[in-house]
Amino acid sequence: MSKTFCSYLFAALLLAIAPVRADDSLAKYWGANSCASSSCHGGGGMKQNQFLTWSIKDFHSQRPPATLTSARSKQIAETLEINEPTADARCTTCHAPLHGVPANLRGEHFKISEGVSCESCHGPAEKWLRSHTRKDYTRADRTAAGMRDLQSLYVRANTCVACHQVVSPALLKAGHPELIFELDGQSCAEPKHWSAEKNGNGAQAWLVGQAVALREMSWQLTQIHSANELSPRMTETNLLDRIYALSWLLSKATDQQLTPGTMAEDFEGRQRLADAFAREKSDSVWSNQMTHDCLARLADVASDFRDENIRPSLHARRAERLVLAFDRLLAAENNHQADAELNQLFKLAQSIPDFEPKAFAAALQKFAAIVSVK
Ligand code: HEC
Ligand code: HEC
Ligand code: HEC
Repeated sequence: MSKTFCSYLFAALLLAIAPVRADDSLAKYWGANSCASSSCHGGGGMKQNQFLTWSIKDFHSQRPPATLTSARSKQIAETLEINEPTADARCTTCHAPLHGVPANLRGEHFKISEGVSCESCHGPAEKWLRSHTRKDYTRADRTAAGMRDLQSLYVRANTCVACHQVVSPALLKAGHPELIFELDGQSCAEPKHWSAEKNGNGAQAWLVGQAVALREMSWQLTQIHSANELSPRMTETNLLDRIYALSWLLSKATDQQLTPGTMAEDFEGRQRLADAFAREKSDSVWSNQMTHDCLARLADVASDFRDENIRPSLHARRAERLVLAFDRLLAAENNHQADAELNQLFKLAQSIPDFEPKAFAAALQKFAAIVSVK
């Protein structure tokens, strides 16, 4: 069991990251302290305070490895027969990623205890640390030297989703919280160490992030199938519901199909479609009209929640992704007219086992009456 999990988690990370870090495996990690001098990113001014923001405010610097020493982690670890979660790849891949860096790739200032560090997101620094400060160095030069191009929403989504969506059935069963990736909201929740204009359009980030989440979940299902793992039926139905719900959301939002032909069970096909969709949306020039179109289309789905041929758990998963979508699309429009109605929708979507599709449909109609007109 544990071997299967490890190999597919590892593959998940490779899949998510592979398109942007072809040669990473050979570059050394220099450690956050290499970025921290006061004339670089360790200063106090707005343009140079990245190290301070990350080390003091960003939960990525301290909390992920600390979590592995909590009572809850101990319990999860015991169930999985893991002796030491702080040293086991099944946990450290996400909570203490520098743990997995081989000894020969550890630079002078490298410290495992850094948590999710600068180089976990920006890429190992060996090949760009010196050159990236040069004035004549372009975005393309940096990317070619292995610095991850996080300004691209697609690349950014791939970076975050590697740790924020897919957890194995075994971990979930052992009590790990279910993860749900949403690029825009989670980027806003992260204490910013970058300037606002580099954030990209929120609605576009939301859409790219959801497509990347769909790709990862579809991929996970192909792995479960190909390993022929006898995962508990519940876990798989759960994952299926989440995949179908997200496919539904994306096609409702954009009028594009995310089901390969008529083959609902072709998850490799779905994975490819979702990836192509994410790239396309990331490269597109986004407009306010596109944000509003997504919002209006999604607000218009009350009748879907009255469809009694859909199983209740799938209705609940659709509602879960839908309220997150409304939250981000309204934020992108800076629209607060429907805050009360949205709160009501969040409340109704909260409990998956007790979800009531008809009550949700009624609340959705009230919400739609306010937001669709403009
Ligand atoms: C190497 C893995 C990794 C990467 C890459 C990563 N994160 Fe995280 N992140 C974590 C872990 C692990 C936690 C959970 C911390 C804890 O509670 O132990 C976390 C926590 C968070 C939280 C707080 C979650 C909460 O519910 O309080 C946010 C928000 C977040 N990350 C956003 C992002 C964004 C945005 C990106 C991409 C720019 C990103 N993360 C990239 C591993 C990662
Ligand atoms: C795929 C990446 C990933 C792996 C692998 C992973 N975690 Fe997590 N874990 C996360 C993220 C992300 C969060 C934050 C969830 C949130 O806040 O929404 C989290 C949250 C947690 C929490 C809850 C923290 C809290 O809020 O109290 C615990 C406990 C935990 N993880 C322990 C573990 C243990 C133990 C392992 C190994 C058996 C492990 N994790 C493996 C990504 C991961
Ligand atoms: C969780 C992922 C993550 C971590 C950890 C992280 N960054 Fe970033 N960083 C980003 C994202 C996303 C951006 C915005 C996109 C961009 O500008 O490339 C960014 C932007 C930046 C920028 C550009 C700022 C601007 O406005 O021009 C600098 C400089 C930077 N990071 C340095 C660091 C340093 C130094 C560390 C560690 C102390 C660090 N980052 C840790 C994700 C991360």
